[in-house]
Amino acid sequence: YGKLGVIGAMKEEIELFHEHMEQVRESAKAGITFYEGVFHGKSIVLCKSGVGKVNAAVTTQILIDTYGVEAVIFTGVAGAVDPSLNVGDIVVSTECLQHDMDVTALGFPRGTIPYEATSVFAADTGLRSAAAGASRELFGAVKKGRVLSGDQFIASRETVQMLHQELQGACVEMEGAAVAQACSMNGIPFVIIRSMSDKADGSAHVNFAEFTVQASENSYRIVDQIVKRL
Ligand code: ADE
Repeated sequence: YGKLGVIGAMKEEIELFHEHMEQVRESAKAGITFYEGVFHGKSIVLCKSGVGKVNAAVTTQILIDTYGVEAVIFTGVAGAVDPSLNVGDIVVSTECLQHDMDVTALGFPRGTIPYEATSVFAADTGLRSAAAGASRELFGAVKKGRVLSGDQFIASRETVQMLHQELQGACVEMEGAAVAQACSMNGIPFVIIRSMSDKADGSAHVNFAEFTVQASENSYRIVDQIVKRL
């Protein structure tokens, strides 16, 4: 895959990576700090995008244009949408969709980006199967599914139901589909790895605060294994 970009949105989601990278060189663009270095003998560029789709899209484009990454892995936490998922479980993206893209008033289905060939961005099959293999080996299980993204922290059972039934989501977060679209627009392979910090319900804010560090570590361990296998 050549040079790899690794993105997390928050400090907790990138710090283990940062600790384990070697020969780190730091630089900044658009207010984002990029860490170029070596991980399992491979050339990687790590960064913290910040929260939300705009941060994620801008960061991804910079990784591609300025740092020349040839594949992108996102690592972090998400709210569970599929009822079979528990806190700590891993989701490997099969594809990504922006759940807050809403042009229903003009007759487009929820999540559809008007006048584009597709609104669903498929993850790279090689990165996906490396991730699924790593997850099975480390945790004995893996959920492969659709990652939904929007500029909203979801904390309601009704919304979760809609995201599951209407949009077929496995989990919900705030960056993956933006990374996915930016990568697709540039012909760059990607995969999103998320560990569940909460169930996006009425207790989501409490669970998120309590479980983000553990879930971030689970996600890190998957990406660690993926990079080792590449
Ligand atoms: N990331 C982690 N939990 C989330 C939630 N409930 N909604 C959106 N993003 C999240």
